[in-house]
Amino acid sequence: MARILITSAIPYINGIKHLGNLVGSQLPADLYARYQRGRGNEVMFLCATDEHGTPAELAAAKAGKPVAEYCAEMHEVQADIARRFGLSFDHFGRSSSAQNHKLTQHFAGKLAENDLIREVSERQVYSNADGRFLPDRYIEGTCPNCGYDKARGDQCENCTKQLDPTDLIEPRSAISGSTDLEVRETKHLYLRQSALKDQLDAWIDSKSDWPVLTTSIAKKWLHDGDGLQDRGITRDLDWGIPVKKGEQDWPGMEGKVFYVWFDAPIEYIACAGEWAEAHGKSDAEWERWWRTDKGADDVRYVQFMGKDNVPFHTLSFPATLIGSGEPWKMVDHLKSFNYLNYDGGQFSTSQGRGVFMDQALEILPADYWRWWLLSHAPENSDSEFTWENFQASVNKDLADVLGNFVSRITKFCRSKFGETVPEGGAYGPQEEALIAELTTRVRAYEAHMEAMEVRKSAQELRAIWAAGNEYLQSAAPWTLFKTDPVQAAAQVRLGLNLIRLYAVLSAPFIPASSARMLEAMQTTDDSWPEDVAGALGVLAPGHAFTVPEVLFAKISDEDREGWQQRFSGVRS
Ligand code: 2FM
Ligand code: ZN
Repeated sequence: MARILITSAIPYINGIKHLGNLVGSQLPADLYARYQRGRGNEVMFLCATDEHGTPAELAAAKAGKPVAEYCAEMHEVQADIARRFGLSFDHFGRSSSAQNHKLTQHFAGKLAENDLIREVSERQVYSNADGRFLPDRYIEGTCPNCGYDKARGDQCENCTKQLDPTDLIEPRSAISGSTDLEVRETKHLYLRQSALKDQLDAWIDSKSDWPVLTTSIAKKWLHDGDGLQDRGITRDLDWGIPVKKGEQDWPGMEGKVFYVWFDAPIEYIACAGEWAEAHGKSDAEWERWWRTDKGADDVRYVQFMGKDNVPFHTLSFPATLIGSGEPWKMVDHLKSFNYLNYDGGQFSTSQGRGVFMDQALEILPADYWRWWLLSHAPENSDSEFTWENFQASVNKDLADVLGNFVSRITKFCRSKFGETVPEGGAYGPQEEALIAELTTRVRAYEAHMEAMEVRKSAQELRAIWAAGNEYLQSAAPWTLFKTDPVQAAAQVRLGLNLIRLYAVLSAPFIPASSARMLEAMQTTDDSWPEDVAGALGVLAPGHAFTVPEVLFAKISDEDREGWQQRFSGVRS
């Protein structure tokens, strides 16, 4: 049994995420976690809310609530929606946890000990109108790299360049819009990433199997221009993790907090500590996932994230881990995604454009969304959500192919043989051919899932469903029944077993529907079909089942037009 550690980029606390966020990290991470559990491996799947920094402060101010209270509430909201989307985290933590405070301060202390932190007296943007410094997202302006005019002080969303607020052209306050800004002196800590450049470079080079999307972004920041820059890791904010060296005060840093991007990835580790606490487990139990000196050397660690997160995960966070000089588990495979666009434009949280997770669930069950999003995941390029495509894909793949198969075979069996698996004769050449085809396809499906090729996995699964439909169509037990009821019964027995097989194979994509299929087949046997022929004999003659309610309802043109209309504007 392999041990697999999976983390999804932790979503900012500021509000409910849209479908573009979901498909860029949490959902494919869940697909992979469910698949690995299905294969019998030991999985630790972690995610959390990213609660510090300017996004949290700005959103709390907008909601008129103290930040801590706002974060506690929004964490519950996000946790609830994640559950309803079937995201099977082993723990959904909070970057504001006591564990993360302690660990973040610990890392800062170790980095200081190893001479990887320098104190810098720097000039920072101060807003006279707002009476405060304006770090990161408190400031907006034009990107010096690509000219995008809504770049934020920490990063340009358009070209992914990491920025400092003073880099922006024509800067303005994101709080008041004021351009009455001046530059003042303030002291900050910098992580000396440049000192770790060669180690990071060698580490990236050792990852020959990483997708080009990932390594090219890392290489760009390592080598372009003046090469890897040191990064400021502290901020003049009230909300966050106080700057300390381990448990000791840091002279001169009073009243400052760590930068959100310093503590957020550390939460991946802290989250395992939160998991242990929540389940009454010892430290050793979480450390065996994260410390290579305490059992994590045989763990395979996979991260999922959108492309804008790649620089932090290939450079900044590894710099923290390597720089600590301690034996922390480093990522083995990093799966990154492009962007999902919405109907001719971008999904946007700040502009309320697109469909948000709570709205999606008001309209249709999670599996409909999960299927569309995963089968259209923006892997090799950006992809686009359109209502027409969503309707077509749900109606065809889920309703016409999978749903129809389940309904047809169970109803036919009930009418001719009753609600138990019929005996029938041995399988003939047609059945053998189907088993051979399915064997090939299931092995291909496994290979794609292992490789985290999300779209290819979906295509293969769809082909597996279609193979059953085509078989049924050509075997036509409803016709054969009139001349050879024994052979027709064997075909039905195969069809009913296929439902169980489909439930097991499809569970990573559509877990709720898979559970309903297993329930209808009245079995809890969800073992993976290592041997497809054997798996098609699990439901023995005489085994009782029930005909399930319609698995997937079709989306009508009327529904589609209504939703198109409803989601054409922006969310208030
Ligand atoms: O881009 C984002 O949504 C960030 N909140 C992701 C953080 S991932 C990590 F490093 F924890
Ligand atoms: Zn840019």
